[in-house]
Amino acid sequence: MAKFVVTIDGPAGSGKSTIAKLLAKREGFIHINSGALYRAVVYILGDSLDKDSLNGVDLKIEYRDGNFRILHNGIDITESLKTEALGKKASNVAKLGFVRDFVNMKVRAIPKSGKFVIDGRDCGSVIFPDADLKIFLTASPEERAKRRAEEIKGDFEHVLEEIKNRDEQDMKREIAPLKKPEGAYEIDTTGLGIEEVFRIVVDLVRRVYGNRDS
Ligand code: C5P
Repeated sequence: MAKFVVTIDGPAGSGKSTIAKLLAKREGFIHINSGALYRAVVYILGDSLDKDSLNGVDLKIEYRDGNFRILHNGIDITESLKTEALGKKASNVAKLGFVRDFVNMKVRAIPKSGKFVIDGRDCGSVIFPDADLKIFLTASPEERAKRRAEEIKGDFEHVLEEIKNRDEQDMKREIAPLKKPEGAYEIDTTGLGIEEVFRIVVDLVRRVYGNRDS
């Protein structure tokens, strides 16, 4: 089978990873979570890292029961990467060109054939500008904060402030800022449940997959 790539970009809490995981579970996609790689970098090295220390890091992507996992020195660190504090630190280092090059190299090393879904901030604009299907998920900051606060059992007001700060930092940086990629389908998920969003996405995916050349 040839390679079929779907990108899902959007701000924190827009549902990218949840939708990507469902595509993996129900539609047989291989999921790559690019944000988790930025989180892994700061988890391992802190946010005052340099290029040499980064290039010496042993970071591998693996799949266990079909789920995307990140291994550091052979140890699965995926579950430790989910805190909002780490998201904020990840956003700080995501401004650095050598960090972006490192993550992009890991992501682009994926195999040559199969169905892939990759989620993040620049997947359709920078990593895979020729993706078969590009999706841009949005939702109001309040809705995203509500979802995230429920997920991490955090305080709504605090999470809302963090999300707004992270949006601003991710959209205003010079290299690969968060934006709607050219040719992307935008879905505003405010007020929609995850199954409703999934149905819209899966319809698009099946239509494009059915129409592909090979
Ligand atoms: O999606 P997640 O919240 O895990 O991403 C953490 C941070 O990593 C984001 O706020 C963003 O700064 C950065 N990131 C990025 N490009 C990506 C994925 C994530 O800059 N493709």
